[in-house]
Amino acid sequence: MADSSMGTEAAEPKREEPYLYRGRTRCSPEEEARLERQHFWKIINAFKYYRTHVEESLKRCERQYLSLPRRHQQLLSGFLDKLAEIRRCMECNHQVLQAIVRNCTHMFENMEYDEDDNVRRAGPSSTFDMDKLKSTIKQFVRDWSEAGKTERDSCYMPIVEEIQKQFPPEKCDISEVKVLVPGAGLGRLAWEIACLGYSCQGNEWSFFMLFSSNFILNRCEKENAMTLYPWVHQFSNNKMSGDQTRGVTFPDVNPQSLPPDSDFSMTAGDFLEVYTDPDTWDCVATCFFIDTAHNVLEYIETIWNILKPGGVWINLGPLLYHFENMANELSIELSYEEIKDVMLKCGFQLEVERESVLTTYTENERSMLKYLYDCVFFVARKPAPLLSNSQNCKDNELKNSKSATTTT
Ligand SMILES: C[S@@+](CC[C@H](N)C(=O)[O-])C[C@H]1O[C@@H](n2cnc3c(N)ncnc32)[C@H](O)[C@@H]1O
Repeated sequence: MADSSMGTEAAEPKREEPYLYRGRTRCSPEEEARLERQHFWKIINAFKYYRTHVEESLKRCERQYLSLPRRHQQLLSGFLDKLAEIRRCMECNHQVLQAIVRNCTHMFENMEYDEDDNVRRAGPSSTFDMDKLKSTIKQFVRDWSEAGKTERDSCYMPIVEEIQKQFPPEKCDISEVKVLVPGAGLGRLAWEIACLGYSCQGNEWSFFMLFSSNFILNRCEKENAMTLYPWVHQFSNNKMSGDQTRGVTFPDVNPQSLPPDSDFSMTAGDFLEVYTDPDTWDCVATCFFIDTAHNVLEYIETIWNILKPGGVWINLGPLLYHFENMANELSIELSYEEIKDVMLKCGFQLEVERESVLTTYTENERSMLKYLYDCVFFVARKPAPLLSNSQNCKDNELKNSKSATTTT
């Protein structure tokens, strides 16, 4: 998967490792399909391996407890009961994870993943994939539980309110307004936008997220009928033992309760590869997304290209660059100041900018350790060209009257 055009200068005394661009390397279509299938089964394997992985960590806890002097064990008389409760929670998580990956081979319209016995047996998964799986479990709280409401209000509401401001239902046919949400996670933001009547598509790249959003959106109808134990892997920073083993029910709403004429869809694949048609979207809404780029300039260019003239990019999030310090991965870490400069050079007009929106991300509200993100929120317009037609002039007048930047 190496991009051999980089880092190969003969004059250099020491050849650098070539940068890798996951999922973006050109190889034969057959090889690409083979790698894709391999990756698909690797992630299914991670879902299947969860039980073995957590069982190993529990066994370690048990061994360590039993290695204590007897008087210490006696002082901690409830310890083994606590581990039994943790094991019960993990087993419940395992059951939900198995339900998520059941029948996944048929979930994509244009791709079948044949069952292959060689790769189907659950072998050990990497710590990296196990961490991703545990983060995916926490993402259920953020997107589809009552417990995640405060977090959604701080992250999604500014975006939703801005869409309503830009495309007010009383002034346009909002079913014709096309909104794209790249990096849609478990799909709640895109779903909320579609619920209001806009035509909305979420795009996601990770199979962890895609399997899980498919499960939520297509197979969970009954409100709060499912339970996950998202904090059960957190052994530190618990005030009460019960905080670790508390369950979170989902979904807080029936995901299939969208209005009958709504237009909501999810696509799978790399945002940069899926979205190449120019002048297509009225709005691109990114939430905690732009820092997932290897090269954020490519995201800015793509968003510029796919927005219709006059369309808006609404963004909220931090700049926690996902590929920073990752071996063999290209990662260009820009400050917000630099990003803004590039956006303006591309031609975007910054209409709204708030530089300090405080949010959390999959927060455990009872934990003794919490992270606070000091996010930027902005609305940037791809200006419409000035046209002679009088209606377009009126449209432009309207847009220009809104184009003064508001900074809070
Ligand atoms: C930090 S999460 C944010 C998810 C969601 N927007 C939210 O606010 O909860 C970033 C998401 O972007 C996805 N992602 C990263 N790179 C992507 C790409 N090139 N194309 C599509 N999705 C991508 C990741 O898989 C992940 O689900």
